[in-house]
Amino acid sequence: MGYEHRPAAAWMNIGGSRRRRSFLFAVATIAAFCFILKLAPITQDKWRQYSYRAYPTPFKTIPDNSPRLTIDDFLSPNHTLSRTLNTTTQNFGPDYIFLHKLGRGYEGQADIYHHVPSNTAVVIKTFFSMTRDQQIPSSVLALLEKDNITLSRWPVDLSATLRRYTGSDSTYRFSISETDDEDNEAEASNTNAPLTNPEDGTIHPLDLFHVPNTPPQTHPWRMVLPLYPGSLDSVASTTAFLNLTTADLDFLYRPRFSAVFRTLGQMHQTTEYTGSLSASDITINGFCHDDVKLDNIFLKNGQHELLVGDMGQVRSLGHDWHKSNKWECRLIDAHRGWRSYLTLLREGSMGAEVSAGKGARFDKGEDSSAWGAQGTFSRDLMEGKVEWAKAYWSWTVWKTLPQDFPEGGWWDEVPEGVVMMPTPKGPVRMGREEAIRFIEGVRMELGEYKTAVKAGVSLEKPWWWWEVKENALPEEVERELKVINGAVLVGM
Ligand SMILES: *[C@@H]1O[C@H](CO)[C@@H](O)[C@H](O)[C@H]1NC(C)=O
Ligand SMILES: *[C@@H]1O[C@H](CO)[C@@H](O)[C@H](O)[C@H]1NC(C)=O
Ligand SMILES: *[C@@H]1O[C@H](CO)[C@@H](O)[C@H](O)[C@H]1NC(C)=O
Ligand SMILES: *[C@@H]1O[C@H](CO)[C@@H](O)[C@H](O)[C@H]1NC(C)=O
Repeated sequence: MGYEHRPAAAWMNIGGSRRRRSFLFAVATIAAFCFILKLAPITQDKWRQYSYRAYPTPFKTIPDNSPRLTIDDFLSPNHTLSRTLNTTTQNFGPDYIFLHKLGRGYEGQADIYHHVPSNTAVVIKTFFSMTRDQQIPSSVLALLEKDNITLSRWPVDLSATLRRYTGSDSTYRFSISETDDEDNEAEASNTNAPLTNPEDGTIHPLDLFHVPNTPPQTHPWRMVLPLYPGSLDSVASTTAFLNLTTADLDFLYRPRFSAVFRTLGQMHQTTEYTGSLSASDITINGFCHDDVKLDNIFLKNGQHELLVGDMGQVRSLGHDWHKSNKWECRLIDAHRGWRSYLTLLREGSMGAEVSAGKGARFDKGEDSSAWGAQGTFSRDLMEGKVEWAKAYWSWTVWKTLPQDFPEGGWWDEVPEGVVMMPTPKGPVRMGREEAIRFIEGVRMELGEYKTAVKAGVSLEKPWWWWEVKENALPEEVERELKVINGAVLVGM
């Protein structure tokens, strides 16, 4: 067991690309594709009309209140446990009508379906057999046995996504077991303790069902998720076109990103009663996400509120994997959170760097004044003078766990201000909410533009388009941002 054998990550990890394309950026792109295909035979005029629509740009969103499948729903007799795949149409009964393939990665694939009862588009995840799996919780086994289904394992992602990470008083009946190979019979606990925070900051499933005639090499389970608008890396690639600086991005996204640490803190403190008779392991004292990165931070809505997703690597704090690596996994999660934020600032400000003619070079010997007024990420990070860099370096000294981030501290500070946003009519001063709405409009256009280009539709470039070229990262910066080997970086 180790990173070599199970690349953290998974969904779109198809070799070759510099960085993994986000699973849900693809979602947005496909949604855009549907938009293009469905709404009209596309013409240049139509496109221009859409692309140059009045500012502020409208944005698409999913309802905040989409229902969450809970464990109790899943175990309820009302829940449809099995759905047969029609191998011709790819439909699951009358309820889930196949629309489009979405993406395929190392551990599984995702497709877009029309959910007929709710008349919404949803994502259905399929898991390949090499995905990380575990013993099926025995409450589910009992259900399966009633239907003469003999299965023993299912993907960890299912247990980990179904559960809520609501802090110390939560109870749970599906264990994310101590080790992958151990069934710790966790379903015994059901004290129905009230949830302190039912919105736990993670993505949630809409449905989960067994597929008796699944294709070979896939787990006979499907998880249905809302069609989220995208993931955070798609925001970074959008703001680069708008020449926003690291300071702009920090101003806009710090209040959003603090939710990621809040969620991690909650996961870390969510205990799970294992139902074991041995007093020593009555509870599991918290969980680590173990795969925090931009691609796994999803946009909840067009206002870019954030959710933590892709739970396939979630492990309990005391998991053997952490022990064998001597990892304080909560610090690893926190450090990955920081590095994701730094990556957002870096990638999102690439346009400003290139535009200022400085690139992402960083030469230690160089007089920093030579970098000009426009800040560059690498210089700012290594000099540690700007606010976000100071906050980061100070975290690497104190190594505070997310649950101990001080209330009203740096992550909670919401500085007032405006950004100068380029618009078709020239720069416009915008407050945070307005700016994010605007960025969302451009993000949608970017997805649509890329999709149209890929589909061979020749289009005039959108007004904001220019050739943003990525510069090579200085070695010391690359080391700082690297997501693997967190243990070394936090000094353990
Ligand atoms: C199952 O459905 C029935 C009828 O729709 C409803 O009255 C009942 O509360 C449901 N049971 C559960 C556990 O959801
Ligand atoms: C699959 O769907 C097709 C088209 O609707 C239908 O003709 C066929 O009977 C279905 N196959 C099964 C096994 O239900
Ligand atoms: C399960 O198998 C038993 C014995 O073969 C049979 O009597 C029963 O009807 C089956 N149940 C289902 C739901 O197929
Ligand atoms: C960003 O800067 C580049 C290079 O200076 C420029 O070509 C482009 O028009 C700018 N983008 C916007 C949206 O102002």
